[in-house]
Amino acid sequence: MKNLITLLCLVTTLTAQASAGERKLVAEVVTPKTPHSNNTGVPPEVLYKKYCASCHDVGTQGAPRLGDKVAWKPLIAAGMPSMMEVVMKGSKKNPLMLPRAGTRLKEEELKPIVEYMVKLSK
Ligand code: HEC
Repeated sequence: MKNLITLLCLVTTLTAQASAGERKLVAEVVTPKTPHSNNTGVPPEVLYKKYCASCHDVGTQGAPRLGDKVAWKPLIAAGMPSMMEVVMKGSKKNPLMLPRAGTRLKEEELKPIVEYMVKLSK
């Protein structure tokens, strides 16, 4: 009987922990960040290195390489909304460029990264 009580206590504790964890997760997902929070203050060049450089530093399989003026010219000419469309939804031409590059970054976090890439590729 004592064992059963211990077991019940344990289960209750575990369940309580799980729901607390879930609540935290939900809070993280639904809590809107301020428009300029920029991934809690992380500069775009740091985000670029973390999430984008693996392909865009070398130009892996058709990724426009950072600083490659020729590759970026037509993309810049097509405009920011066009580039952001590809970044948000992924490329129809090249499946390597996933929606949001496979990250959970928000549009307001991705846009400064694209602006940073454009600035260094003009
Ligand atoms: C796994 C490789 C990979 C990663 C990681 C990656 N990209 Fe790309 N990206 C590509 C490829 C490939 C293309 C070319 C797509 C095409 O030709 O349509 C591309 C194209 C782009 C373009 C041009 C879109 C246009 O107008 O055609 C932008 C802007 C861009 N990426 C931004 C980013 C950003 C920002 C990140 C990081 C958050 C990132 N990419 C991460 C592979 C990658």
